[in-house]
Amino acid sequence: MRLLRTIILAAGKGTRMKSQTPKVLHHVCGRPLIDYVLDIAGAVGSLKICVVLGHQIEKVQEHLSSDIEIVLQAQLLGTADAVRCAQKFFTDYDGDILLLCGDTPLLRRETVRNLIRRHRKTKADVTFLTAVVEDSRGYGRVIRDENGRALAIREENDATGVEKTIKEINVGVYCFRSRALFTALTKVKKNSRKGEFYLTDVIEILTAEGRRVETAATPDAAEGRGVNTRVDLAVCHAMIRQRILEDVMLSGVTIVDPSTTHIDADVKIGQDTIIRPFTVIEHDVRVGGHCVIGPFARLRPGTRIKNFVEIGNFVEISRTVIGEKTLMKHFGFLGDARVGSAVNIGAGTVTANFDGHTKSETTILDGAFIGSDSVLVAPVTVGKKAMTGAGSVVTRGQVIPDGQVVVGVPARILQKKNDK
Ligand code: UD1
Ligand code: MG
Repeated sequence: MRLLRTIILAAGKGTRMKSQTPKVLHHVCGRPLIDYVLDIAGAVGSLKICVVLGHQIEKVQEHLSSDIEIVLQAQLLGTADAVRCAQKFFTDYDGDILLLCGDTPLLRRETVRNLIRRHRKTKADVTFLTAVVEDSRGYGRVIRDENGRALAIREENDATGVEKTIKEINVGVYCFRSRALFTALTKVKKNSRKGEFYLTDVIEILTAEGRRVETAATPDAAEGRGVNTRVDLAVCHAMIRQRILEDVMLSGVTIVDPSTTHIDADVKIGQDTIIRPFTVIEHDVRVGGHCVIGPFARLRPGTRIKNFVEIGNFVEISRTVIGEKTLMKHFGFLGDARVGSAVNIGAGTVTANFDGHTKSETTILDGAFIGSDSVLVAPVTVGKKAMTGAGSVVTRGQVIPDGQVVVGVPARILQKKNDK
């Protein structure tokens, strides 16, 4: 098995995003763009990942895990120069290098797997991904000989009239043999029209050296779509959202109305759960099986919902664990709460978890009954099978013993008549 390492190009300024945030940190379906690409690199078995950064390197670096190599491309001198900047991490390396761009979240791991498989099967020096598109403007065109062998990639600015009519384009995903790549890179000359070093020139150089150039095609040209503007961001969001919804439905979850349901990447939902319309489930949320969620529910990051739970309309839940068979069927908010099983949470219940400085926890134990319009000023604990009366305000630090009933503002233990 040959070794594999990945270089991700992400030094571009992202000027057209018109943003203070580096482009690759903009989110699509709850995840930064670069995470989609990092995922692919990991999934196809990269032993090392190197990211080339320029603009706002510190902000991106902060986001990346420490095992990722980061290299600065001080000046944007083109894609070939960007790869050259990463060369120091590959001095003693003899294996394959996968090259990806940081702003292409639609790329599928299967497509990249196929590309690598083809590269190895054909023992190629480079294999790059191509697609046929109606409008090839702006892309590098794939130049082939009469036998269909790929010879070169011609960039828009350098293409002749005939070459411009070619509809097969370079998607921008490559697998190289490391030695062949770095040798060819030394021969890339600065493009006189754009003043940049084009990585795509490497293909023609390798052809001239008699090296083996291969291509792999994807039927879905959208996979290579990069994010340049916020319009692209919205387009990618819509496409990834659709993929997520389909994956969730195919895994055994009913989504009553996909057109009004938003589920982020990295969400897990168990079988036979039903998601009703206008529900938003954000990243880092787990929902068990046989639950009913929505309509109009919002589950925020850190939420863990066990099996057979019902979350109804206008409920927002954040960083909260909810035990089996618990019901919260009407409007309310739970934040930083640990809720046991078979708890009933009445309409209008609110955890006041934030005092302006710190967030505090609310604990509600098994079988408790929270009356309508209760306010739980965290930190508070509601004991097993304890009950809060409608409209009670359970104040900070209060611990309601198991089985007790509290009522009023501030909530006090209700003395039963025969207790007196
Ligand atoms: C590139 C390809 C083109 C292909 C297209 C697919 C070249 C010369 N052309 O063109 O054949 O059809 O992608 O989308 O490679 N980057 C750096 N440093 C630089 C320049 C770019 O890191 O100095 C990064 C960018 O952040 C981006 C990627 O490289 O992630 C591609 O650069 P971009 O300027 O978008 O290249 P294209 O002109 O789109
Ligand atoms: Mg581009």
